Amino acid sequence: MLIENFITCFARKKNSTYLQFSPATSLSIPISKEDHAPLLLYLHVPFCEELCPYCSFNRVVFKEALAREYFAALRKEINLYKKQGYNFQSLYVGGGTPTILIDELGHTLKLIKELYGVAEISVETNPNHLNEKNIKVLKNVGVNRLSVGVQSFDDDLLKAIERYHKYGSGQDIVARLRHTQGVFDTLNVDMIFNFPMQTIAMLEKDLSTIIELGVDQATYYPLMVSASTQNAIKKKLGQVDYKQEKTFYKKITQMLSPHYQASTAWCFSKNNTMIDEYVVNFEEYAGLGSGSFGYLDGCVYANTFDIQEYINRLNNGILPIAAKKDFSIKERARYDFLMKLFGLKLDLKQLGKKTKGSVYYYLWPEILFFLIAGGLKKRGKELVLTKRGQYYWVVMMREFFIGVNNFRDFCRFNLNPKKN
Ligand SMILES: C[S@@+](CC[C@H](N)C(=O)[O-])C[C@H]1O[C@@H](n2cnc3c(N)ncnc32)[C@H](O)[C@@H]1O
Ligand code: SF4
Repeated sequence: MLIENFITCFARKKNSTYLQFSPATSLSIPISKEDHAPLLLYLHVPFCEELCPYCSFNRVVFKEALAREYFAALRKEINLYKKQGYNFQSLYVGGGTPTILIDELGHTLKLIKELYGVAEISVETNPNHLNEKNIKVLKNVGVNRLSVGVQSFDDDLLKAIERYHKYGSGQDIVARLRHTQGVFDTLNVDMIFNFPMQTIAMLEKDLSTIIELGVDQATYYPLMVSASTQNAIKKKLGQVDYKQEKTFYKKITQMLSPHYQASTAWCFSKNNTMIDEYVVNFEEYAGLGSGSFGYLDGCVYANTFDIQEYINRLNNGILPIAAKKDFSIKERARYDFLMKLFGLKLDLKQLGKKTKGSVYYYLWPEILFFLIAGGLKKRGKELVLTKRGQYYWVVMMREFFIGVNNFRDFCRFNLNPKKN
């Protein structure tokens, strides 16, 4: 655990400087270039029927009138990007719960299809939304990948994380998944490992259920504890033990590997399915919706977290950007190093073009460390993760997402002080 502890401390320290943004002085996004690499469009729908205590993503309790105004504002933002010359090849709708108002989501996806050449659509949802009406709308509008938040099939665990009463028992969830299977190109289940009260026996049972169901893809997130959720997690679930995380991860890869291939360090897919993590597949992306992040032309930006302000700005025809940061070449190289290796391999030649030939100049400490620690190996012009490296990247990405979640909390408090 020495190396993993070192990676955790190192990543935590780096992320705290890496993710320091300033309030945006200019509210624009870069104008799209003709020769832009393929881009992904990320849309955020922050509403949930109830809030899960462990979740530190950007989400608020659902109120229908506000959510309808929100979807209308989202469509205005989508139109503004078209006016700036953007085109998008792929769409990811995340939450919150994107299917909270299926008619609004349907209209929004239809508009995107009319405006842009998106070839793939991925949507997140919850098990209680897997009903005939929703599935029909999603299928008709061309959704290819549906990602369902399951977390676990264990009833005691579902009760402890306060999802049982909302999303049903493990058995209910299995039945709904079975019913949905085969409708979309990819049916993904989002799972979490390393909840304090989770046992290895519970994990094994969940893995057997996934294998028996034969869903196309399983994403196994390590529990991420950010500053805003640590007290609730400790009080309701207990103390998180990172030693257990490694044991759990080993069990996950061991049980899934005969049936699934790793497509990222924590996403396991059957053949020819879409990838879950757009940050791996797309060099750059636009983030639309309140609290979304985008990464365009080396500039990372975040939209306002204040939903009413988000709506007001768009009603006035203004982009809702609240904070921005231009990455230096070194920061761009570090970002690519992290994301590409999360997808298991890094093309040194391609990254060399971005850093004008000097990948090692910018990244030698990281590369050397992971080569010596046995997490990386060189294969031709590529760096690839070893088996051990896959777990190191779970740790790296866990810390990256915790850093992003802490940054979100910072934005909520510091960029919208009147709301807090
Ligand atoms: C942010 S939710 C949005 C979609 C939907 N509301 C749901 O619950 O699945 C997407 C997934 O993020 C994962 N997630 C949420 N909070 C997490 C945390 N603290 N640690 C690890 N994964 C988390 C869960 O697996 C969840 O299904
Ligand atoms: S896990 Fe999903 S349903 Fe629960 S609060 Fe987070 S976004 Fe909402």
